[in-house]
Amino acid sequence: MSNALEVSGLRKEFGGLVAVREVSFSVGEGEFVGLIGPNGCGKSTTFNCISGLLEQTSGRIEIFGEDASELRPDQIQNLGMTRTFQHTNLWREMTVIENLLVPPRGQFGSSIRELARSLLFPANQAEAGRLSMAYDVLDQLEVPHMAHNMTSELSGGQSKLVDIGRSMMGEPRLLLLDEPVAGVAGPLAMKIFNNLRKLVDETGITVLIIEHNMDFILRQGVDRIIVMNEGGVLMEGTPDEVRNNRAVIEAYLGAAGESGGGEE
Ligand SMILES: Nc1ncnc2c1ncn2[C@@H]1O[C@H](COP(=O)(O)OP(=O)(O)OP(=O)(O)O)[C@@H](O)[C@H]1O
Ligand SMILES: [Mg+2]
Repeated sequence: MSNALEVSGLRKEFGGLVAVREVSFSVGEGEFVGLIGPNGCGKSTTFNCISGLLEQTSGRIEIFGEDASELRPDQIQNLGMTRTFQHTNLWREMTVIENLLVPPRGQFGSSIRELARSLLFPANQAEAGRLSMAYDVLDQLEVPHMAHNMTSELSGGQSKLVDIGRSMMGEPRLLLLDEPVAGVAGPLAMKIFNNLRKLVDETGITVLIIEHNMDFILRQGVDRIIVMNEGGVLMEGTPDEVRNNRAVIEAYLGAAGESGGGEE
């Protein structure tokens, strides 16, 4: 199995604070992997470095075998990677389907792939293609009935779903999701994970997902879990291996008071 993502010796300092210290891990193509760890252990910062939003202090990042360490976010997106953010940022005065049709606010510009597509196809044909893709994405997420709802009327959980849908519109080969079910009610959160599992199995996409709640992710069918603690990787393993690892249990017990799992 070749790697979709390879992170080697990643370090990120903010002034005197070391947020990420020599983190190394890889995610194989077609894998569904969880990234977990207590509050403030460096999960989002790791994503921010991988996606080019932050320049790492040191370390190397490879995406599908290409050196992405010094690339800009749009260049990284062109390698086939898309990410979501911990705080969803939808266009509130638009419908769900309209949200899927515009590029995410404050994220990436339109990709070279989209530019090429618009040059190859007449505008109306390209638009019709995107519209049908948007409906397909809502079908995949099992929420086609939400297409014409105003985004401002959605619950927090439904907004998270639309955010995932929007990230799928770029047809990523590697999807990084930052706490996509934080604050989402249990049944819907499980449905989101089920659908992601199905997506991985059916399309061969690679998914790396940050989740705060360890008890929850242990039961969601991910292939592997990477556990971070205090800026480093504590361990990696199958859900069973993680469940039985003493260091993990201790890290989580130590952080029990702050691991509420709600949306911040
Ligand atoms: N832009 C920034 N400037 C300064 N410090 C930062 C910045 N971003 C993150 N940090 C700090 O780096 C550390 C790691 O933060 P990060 O957001 O990566 O943690 P996390 O694991 O995603 O936590 P959470 O579970 O709360 O989302 C924290 O101490 C945080 O305060
Ligand atoms: Mg975070």
